[in-house]
Amino acid sequence: MKKKIFSGVQPTGNLHLGNYLGAIKNFVELNNDDNNDCIFCVVDLHAITVNQEPSELKNNIRETVATFIASGINPKKSIIFNQSQVSAHSEAAWIFSCVARMGWLNRMTQFKEKAGKDKEKASIGLYSYPVLMAADILLYDATHVPVGDDQRQHLELCRDIAQKFNNDYKVDELKLPEPLIQKEFSRIMSLKDGSKKMSKSDSSDLSRINLTDEKDQIINKIKKAKTDPLQMPSSIEELEKRPEAKNLIGIFSSLSDLTIENTVKEFSGKDFSKFKDHLSQVLVDKIIPISKEIKKLLNEISYIDEILFEGCKKAEDIASKKIKKIHEIVGF
Ligand code: AMP
Ligand code: TRP
Repeated sequence: MKKKIFSGVQPTGNLHLGNYLGAIKNFVELNNDDNNDCIFCVVDLHAITVNQEPSELKNNIRETVATFIASGINPKKSIIFNQSQVSAHSEAAWIFSCVARMGWLNRMTQFKEKAGKDKEKASIGLYSYPVLMAADILLYDATHVPVGDDQRQHLELCRDIAQKFNNDYKVDELKLPEPLIQKEFSRIMSLKDGSKKMSKSDSSDLSRINLTDEKDQIINKIKKAKTDPLQMPSSIEELEKRPEAKNLIGIFSSLSDLTIENTVKEFSGKDFSKFKDHLSQVLVDKIIPISKEIKKLLNEISYIDEILFEGCKKAEDIASKKIKKIHEIVGF
């Protein structure tokens, strides 16, 4: 039995090293395994749960697709499409919002974080966001969903919705998906503060490596990255008390496919500046080819639109059959 992989990324601007190591690198490995059927969705309906500038949104959708392809996802092998073009997502989200309970959604920590103090002013979409995410997954009978650790709770909610739907309607129609959460690198931290996640919404561009950065920008950002005054750590235990060192060592080891242990051994007791030179080098080697390819692809908009068009057709084919079955079960 092939695994059915589904995941989504929001088209909300510059994707960064955290997105790459926490999600996209993993997507590429899943795409390369012939035992998997993969679907990667650009979740534009999720993006508008907060304000978006329409022309920017359009560009960001294409840029997200370009990033997928530049990173190594093969559009001939995996389905790449944008959520808004397959209407079954919105339809299923409505039906599942009648299955999900207020009490379940009230527990979602991401809503609490994103809505902040003034919940009254948050959109209803931001609140029901995980229900749409459940629709995305359940429409394709996904067996495995690769996500960052922050999405674990939403996956649980998706399973609860599937189970309640099956129980309420006495069917076995919806498959309960398993999360695929990486143990290491599921949280790449800001280059300026080892206690904060690297994020596209951080006001300082120096806090992150964007996948479209140039060589000089990468070198400069690593040079300016926060460290502590000590030499490079000599044991893994030491890392727990030194978050910035831990983050930089984690990034190095992930990009060079070395274990943390071996990375620590290699640089133990050395100056940070020496390590930073090596780190910049692996980053440049990895990110610059991706960055160049993204820029090249963004000059070939018709190619990107063609990929989305083909992907949407394939997604539509699967999702329309599933929503038809759901309609019948519900009694429409
Ligand atoms: P988002 O940009 O929030 O839609 O996230 C897209 C994917 O990247 C999700 O799977 C996130 O969990 C992952 N991601 C985002 N930021 C980071 C980070 N700093 N470290 C690791 N993974 C991340
Ligand atoms: N909520 C996810 C995030 O912010 C994106 C997402 C939407 C998703 N639908 C999905 C991820 C379905 C996995 C499966 O990262």
